Amino acid sequence: MKIFLIGFMGAGKTSIGKRLAKSLNYKFIDMDKLIEFNAGQSINELFKEHGEKHFRELEKTTLEELKPDTNIVIATGGGTPCYEQNMEFMNETGTTIYLNLPTDMLFERLIESKSKRPLIKDLTDKDLRAYIAKMLEERSVFYEKANNTVNAAHITNAVEEISQLICQLR
Ligand code: S3P
Repeated sequence: MKIFLIGFMGAGKTSIGKRLAKSLNYKFIDMDKLIEFNAGQSINELFKEHGEKHFRELEKTTLEELKPDTNIVIATGGGTPCYEQNMEFMNETGTTIYLNLPTDMLFERLIESKSKRPLIKDLTDKDLRAYIAKMLEERSVFYEKANNTVNAAHITNAVEEISQLICQLR
């Protein structure tokens, strides 16, 4: 089974994904890390040298090249579900879980960790909050196509809730 964790930057896809994979005894993949490894460049470098469009193409092929038959938890990038037919592809090939967090909590987290994220790294605090609110509204249309939505405010609770969901599905 493939479990795709989706949601905005800072929602905790990687932290929750790692713990979830451990508790289910599944493999774990962070798509951003895989893209960086395959390209030999950081996400910041990829955006700067080749542009966002190229990154979105890499994101799509990386998603499609995941092996079909492994038990795996995949932390996607915040934009993965919002481009191409990626959301449909994930729903067809696995279970999708939307890690939901409100703008204020995303802002608190992202203010500390924006430097590795090309879309927000140069924004002032004020602009960052407005950007999150706007993008979250636009992207929610895609995120809400997920099979399940989980409150991501508390990592341990989220891991527990997703583990139970997966056990019911198995
Ligand atoms: C992006 C989110 C990032 C990364 C890239 C673009 C986005 O992943 O894929 O910087 O479009 O929201 P995280 O959600 O892991 O930060």
